[in-house]
Amino acid sequence: MRSTNSALLLASLSLAQTSPQPGCKNIHGDAGWPTTNEWQQLNQTISGQLIQTVPLGAVCHYEPFGVYNRTACEELRRDWDFRHWKFKVWEMGQIHVGHASEIMNPYYQNRSCDPFTPAESPCELGNYASYSINVTGARDVVAGIQFAKQKNIRLVIKNTGHDYHGRSSGASSLSLWMYNLKNVEIIHDYQSAYYNGPAARLGAGIGVGESYMAVHKYGYRVVGGECGTVGVAGGYSQGGGHSVLASENGLGSDQVLEWEVVTTKGEHLIATPEQNSDLYWALSGGGGGTYGVVIGVTVRIFKDGPFSGGALVFNNTDTPGREIFWKAVEKWYEYFPKMTINNNTVQFVLLNSTLDAQAINLPGQNVAAVDRLMAPFLRELDKLGQSYSFRTEHSKTYYDHFDHYYGPLPHGAEPVTTILHARLIPRHVVQDKAANGKLVDTMRSIVQDDKFLMGCGVFHLPNTRHADNAVLPAWREAQAVCIANGFWNFEAPVEHNVALKQELADIHAPAMDAATPGSGVYINEVDPLYKGDWKEAAFGANYGRLLEIKRKYDPDRVLFGHMSVGSDEFRFDDAGRLCYIGEGRKNVLVSQEQHPLYYENYEL
Ligand SMILES: Cc1cc2nc3c(=O)[nH]c(=O)nc-3n(C[C@H](O)[C@H](O)[C@H](O)COP(=O)(O)OP(=O)(O)OC[C@H]3O[C@@H](n4cnc5c(N)ncnc54)[C@H](O)[C@@H]3O)c2cc1C
Ligand SMILES: *[C@@H]1O[C@H](CO)[C@@H](O)[C@H](O)[C@H]1NC(C)=O
Ligand SMILES: *[C@@H]1O[C@H](CO)[C@@H](O)[C@H](O)[C@H]1NC(C)=O
Ligand SMILES: *[C@@H]1O[C@H](CO)[C@@H](O)[C@H](O)[C@H]1NC(C)=O
Ligand SMILES: *[C@@H]1O[C@H](CO)[C@@H](O)[C@H](O)[C@H]1NC(C)=O
Ligand SMILES: *[C@@H]1O[C@H](CO)[C@@H](O)[C@H](O)[C@H]1NC(C)=O
Ligand SMILES: *[C@@H]1O[C@H](CO)[C@@H](O)[C@H](O)[C@H]1NC(C)=O
Ligand SMILES: *[C@@H]1O[C@H](CO)[C@@H](O)[C@H](O)[C@H]1NC(C)=O
Repeated sequence: MRSTNSALLLASLSLAQTSPQPGCKNIHGDAGWPTTNEWQQLNQTISGQLIQTVPLGAVCHYEPFGVYNRTACEELRRDWDFRHWKFKVWEMGQIHVGHASEIMNPYYQNRSCDPFTPAESPCELGNYASYSINVTGARDVVAGIQFAKQKNIRLVIKNTGHDYHGRSSGASSLSLWMYNLKNVEIIHDYQSAYYNGPAARLGAGIGVGESYMAVHKYGYRVVGGECGTVGVAGGYSQGGGHSVLASENGLGSDQVLEWEVVTTKGEHLIATPEQNSDLYWALSGGGGGTYGVVIGVTVRIFKDGPFSGGALVFNNTDTPGREIFWKAVEKWYEYFPKMTINNNTVQFVLLNSTLDAQAINLPGQNVAAVDRLMAPFLRELDKLGQSYSFRTEHSKTYYDHFDHYYGPLPHGAEPVTTILHARLIPRHVVQDKAANGKLVDTMRSIVQDDKFLMGCGVFHLPNTRHADNAVLPAWREAQAVCIANGFWNFEAPVEHNVALKQELADIHAPAMDAATPGSGVYINEVDPLYKGDWKEAAFGANYGRLLEIKRKYDPDRVLFGHMSVGSDEFRFDDAGRLCYIGEGRKNVLVSQEQHPLYYENYEL
């Protein structure tokens, strides 16, 4: 372990005010917005790593970038809808994820510069950052923070742009683009007071799939999401992080041994359970982009070994008067606690037409164990007269298992949607017949008209070891995370899709809450229009302590994210400026949609 906080990089940055004054950040066009010359000076201090934003969609519009190209635009239209992404598209251009300022989120992209709008309409930056620093190390981060503070402009941190709340983007912002920090170091015998064993030090830009490949070379496996393109050190490990290995090894946040961080005060430090332990605690589960800028993370890794898998599908073939599918679904939910014995996890998708358990994951076990695990449930299906298909596979390693069920690595082919809401399903709910029945009725009401599907990851955490961290306690009591997914229609007007988001926020999310009282939401996958008490639902009892830590390490409130700790101290004004309104504005949700209500209540 590295011992002391390394050098204070820039003394000027540490001259933090005790508490910032209310006021707004400059936006493009304001007198205080940096001049071209000032941007160029910044560029010089960071060895030419400054990128001015030209959205991908610029090739589909004449103005203002002057790069209209019909062929390129047609290619972009074909690749833009990431629901249809295939491996090939990734190889071709790393659309969105590998671009400095693109985000994988049509709601926040908001068609400001979109390949499907007319070529005559201008390509506008909208919610995109204005400039990005292609970060090569801590010094670039410090330079970016200093510039944003001096010029009073908004700063955002972007890794892959997966964020469902647009938190890795922002209008008139300078973005710290962490994606190219791709260093990996394997430590075969990491030693600390609470963990001795193999570990990997991963640069902030390493993706889940990349991490799997990097440690696989040395015979290890590492906890990461089901989606290969998510970043490990960014929102995933900072916000919880569920995965195939959740029951065996815990959440993404539970894996962290060390965070290498640059704070907005300009300090470059290491946070571990023993050193800067408050910052360690907050970063490990308290939400991405809130407490500091992560340069890299050291996580536990595990010797890889055999893995068995299964897939079970049963279709809804009910006819009026013969309803068995939903009875079978109810049995399936009841079966969760039995599924997760021996550190197993299961991922399935529920639609009105089918229940498709795409991946049943058994670490360290053989196919006979998969058969044994599912046999009692299959007998229930037989009893009901519900037909099904079931198959099993054995893999030599987790790596092969993942590649088979979620690959191809490194990116995978998971369909993406940005109309989504995740709720943690408590164990006591599926264990109680009446509560479980109500839960399944809720699931049914959500998927019945085919506007939404329900994707659930079934796991069981309590056996897993980890240092104390800020993961929402409801995870430890949960038996699954269930995510309602609607599908964005890229060719339809934004309003059509927003209506679907409204339906989710107004009807389905409250129904999911009602069926799981006292549980919580997953900060990374809660719907941005969520109407519940987001502080309670996403952070629970940890909120107060997280806010104190946020104030200690980011006293000037440089970092802001929708539904992130401390975000109710901000609002947007009519022109879209991010404004600090002072402490103590409890439970006021500031959203990028600029609800008029909040202006009335909080005029500056
Ligand atoms: C297709 C898809 C699949 C997903 N699959 C899973 C899954 O299997 N399991 C799971 O748990 N979650 C999953 N998620 C949710 C995912 O964990 C979150 O979206 C997460 O926030 C992504 O983190 P990122 O760093 O890749 O993305 P970004 O959008 O780049 O960043 C997310 C947040 O982290 C902040 N951040 C990024 N890098 C840093 C840094 N270096 N320092 C400080 N803050 C930083 C950003 O400011 C932002 O607030 C999925 C999301 C998508 C879109
Ligand atoms: C920053 O400098 C590099 C190298 O000189 C240059 O290629 C790049 O275009 C500059 N960025 C901006 C925004 O001017
Ligand atoms: C237009 O885009 C196509 C496809 O990307 C490319 O081959 C071509 O060179 C571009 N034309 C111009 C004038 O840039
Ligand atoms: C960002 O920097 C890396 C080096 O760290 C370089 O390889 C890459 O080409 C740069 N990307 C852009 C878009 O400038
Ligand atoms: C479950 O995982 C833990 C490690 O978190 C391990 O100690 C235990 O042996 C595993 N149990 C089984 C049945 O494999
Ligand atoms: C379920 O339906 C799908 C699509 O109609 C079909 O391909 C599959 O064979 C069916 N499976 C079972 C087990 O009936
Ligand atoms: C759900 O599926 C069943 C079986 O295919 C079908 O009979 C029923 O009409 C569907 N429900 C709705 C609301 O479409
Ligand atoms: C999308 O753009 C419209 C029109 O400019 C604006 O009213 C809305 O708030 C924007 N939505 C988001 C999520 O930024």
